[in-house]
Amino acid sequence: MVRHQRAHRRFDDRPVDDDLVERCLEAATRAPSAENKQPWEFIVVRDPERRAAIGELTRDAWRAGGRAHSEGRLPAHLLAEVDDGAEGGVAAAPVLVVVCGNAERGLPSTLPASVFPAVQNLLLAAGALGLGSAMTTLALQRADALRVLLALPDHVTPMAIVPLGWPARPLGPSRREPVAERAHRERWGEPW
Ligand SMILES: Cc1cc2nc3c(=O)[nH]c(=O)nc-3n(C[C@H](O)[C@H](O)[C@H](O)COP(=O)(O)O)c2cc1C
Repeated sequence: MVRHQRAHRRFDDRPVDDDLVERCLEAATRAPSAENKQPWEFIVVRDPERRAAIGELTRDAWRAGGRAHSEGRLPAHLLAEVDDGAEGGVAAAPVLVVVCGNAERGLPSTLPASVFPAVQNLLLAAGALGLGSAMTTLALQRADALRVLLALPDHVTPMAIVPLGWPARPLGPSRREPVAERAHRERWGEPW
């Protein structure tokens, strides 16, 4: 399962029922968090206008500097995929889950570290149900506008936007470097 967890940025038109969304959210809420404070909040966005507005924020951030930043950094195939997602593919998903951190529940120093495991659970649960998903952050560059759009109080910070939808096409397994390239035995530099 983990090998097939990929970033999906294109979805077909089939709807995603609330019970599937809830199963993903239930998995997300099983994640670990510092002091078990569970400082996550999930804004489930289905409204087409609100999704389009998030799409505009994403596109705006991409065109205003995201693309230029990524052009020198990403391989061509990944740049093309991110471009496709930022230009509308991600926002066209039937559901956008905006994952937020609640500073009234979690310590500031561990808030992101307590929210991102929930995002990963959400991604894995979606994949297990056959749904496509992705961790995205581009729209966070327009966080103030996102706050207004979602009526977020000051103590709630958006940290990721996860589209949920039926994949437009299968993506196959992920490409990652072998464990031996990243693992060390006992001390840095000693081969695994
Ligand atoms: C912190 C973080 C931020 C990301 N932001 C975006 C984003 O804004 N837009 C996007 O299309 N993908 C985004 N991604 C997805 C990555 O591009 C993707 O996970 C990576 O290229 C590996 O792709 P794969 O899982 O399909 O192999 C983000 C991933 C992470 C972990």
